[in-house]
Amino acid sequence: MSLQLRYLVLVLILNLWSSCISAETLPDEALALQSLASKWQVGPGNWAGSDPCGSNWVGINCSNSHIIYIVLSGLSISGSLSDEIQNLPELVHLDLSFNPGLGGPIPRTIGNLVKLRRLVLVGCSFSGFIPPELGKLSRLAFLSLNSNKLRGSIPGELGNLSSLIWFDITDNEISGSIPVSDGTNLGLDMLKKCQHFHFGKNNLSGPIPPELFQSNTSVRHVYD
Ligand SMILES: *[C@@H]1O[C@H](CO)[C@@H](O)[C@H](O)[C@H]1NC(C)=O
Ligand SMILES: *[C@@H]1O[C@H](CO)[C@@H](O)[C@H](O)[C@H]1NC(C)=O
Ligand SMILES: *[C@@H]1O[C@H](CO)[C@@H](O)[C@H](O)[C@H]1NC(C)=O
Ligand SMILES: *[C@@H]1O[C@H](CO)[C@@H](O)[C@H](O)[C@H]1NC(C)=O
Repeated sequence: MSLQLRYLVLVLILNLWSSCISAETLPDEALALQSLASKWQVGPGNWAGSDPCGSNWVGINCSNSHIIYIVLSGLSISGSLSDEIQNLPELVHLDLSFNPGLGGPIPRTIGNLVKLRRLVLVGCSFSGFIPPELGKLSRLAFLSLNSNKLRGSIPGELGNLSSLIWFDITDNEISGSIPVSDGTNLGLDMLKKCQHFHFGKNNLSGPIPPELFQSNTSVRHVYD
């Protein structure tokens, strides 16, 4: 073999090799998922290795090397939710519903996931307060926190969720009254696109504010 030919073969082999080992997932996002899994005593079946997108981890969908969906409903996951969830800047859906062993606080850092459209944590064991930082999720359309152990009051900041269509906090231990906006504070009456307000099975006090039903709102169902 001539020297040039040997060189060419070597370059070809190196290229093939590097395309096999190069990951399809951005390293920061792969690390973020590994951090989530590190807080779970029981995790999803096949989360192994360091390339969630390239090796088709259960419940993960990707686009352009970014993680865009996490849908892990009813997989008996147990443990808590890591703050590192914030390192998934393109995340659109986060659905961890029906994992009763999954609890602890809802991380405030979820408020940094500015592309999030669905946050579904139904039927887990999340406790503590609803983080007011969720009010920063300007694209959020579905917020389902029903059937957990959340307490404290409804943060008025959630009135900032201008894309919200569905708001469900049924079956928690939430107290206080339903926040209504005034000159300084935000309130749920500002959720003009919201069609569903489900508040039942909590420890809320006071009336359902009439402001929720003005002509500039879209309410279809309120369950109390
Ligand atoms: C997510 O990816 C899985 C395969 O990994 C696929 O079956 C599923 O349809 C995808 N979901 C969406 C909403 O694209
Ligand atoms: C309201 O949403 C905007 C983004 O749409 C954000 O910059 C601001 O911090 C939010 N305010 C609160 C109180 O959440
Ligand atoms: C909705 O309209 C009423 C008057 O009909 C007004 O007083 C109220 O401020 C409006 N609410 C919002 C959130 O714009
Ligand atoms: C429910 O709220 C009332 C006051 O509104 C309070 O006295 C009571 O202790 C609360 N119950 C629970 C279970 O939090």
